[in-house]
Amino acid sequence: MGESNVVDLLIQQHVEIRRLFGEVRDASAEQRPEAFERLVRFLAVHEAAEEEVVHPEARQVLAKDAGVVEALLAEENDAKQMLSELERAEVGSLDFDAKFAMLERAVLAHADREETEELPALRAEHDELRLQAIGVAVKAAEAMAPTHPHPGLQTPAENLLVGPFVGMVDRVRDVVRHAMGGPGSK
Ligand SMILES: [Fe+2]
Ligand SMILES: [Fe+2]
Repeated sequence: MGESNVVDLLIQQHVEIRRLFGEVRDASAEQRPEAFERLVRFLAVHEAAEEEVVHPEARQVLAKDAGVVEALLAEENDAKQMLSELERAEVGSLDFDAKFAMLERAVLAHADREETEELPALRAEHDELRLQAIGVAVKAAEAMAPTHPHPGLQTPAENLLVGPFVGMVDRVRDVVRHAMGGPGSK
């Protein structure tokens, strides 16, 4: 059973993101495209759940300091931009390596900022029960987006994870929003 407290859950996922970046760097030429795809899918699901569940919570908690959440959203958009450029580069080319290193720095700095500015605010303002409830919502959101689609046997949800990263995050986010009955769900 994984962590349910949203703060611990996201920190755990950041550890996994760091590991997946390392996996791409260390992979052999043949294994690299697959490792890269695993990273992209994990990131898409993680960032979509944050955009839909976590940042809105943080926006309320950080009401007087809403700039923090705006900055995080801007960083997530920058990462999407970098990823779509990366998707146009050939895996293993010099261009890919340079852009990949840039993306890794940006995403890890972004995760650090979440851990130092956003998550402590959530931890300070909510009790354990509430943090668990938000964590369950994150898990539910992520469960709607399977990370291993099977070609030829795709449910509509699995199809969400086919295609460029930007579209992936946005489609996952829309499904989550719809399922949670949030704004724009109708
Ligand atoms: Fe994020
Ligand atoms: Fe994150």
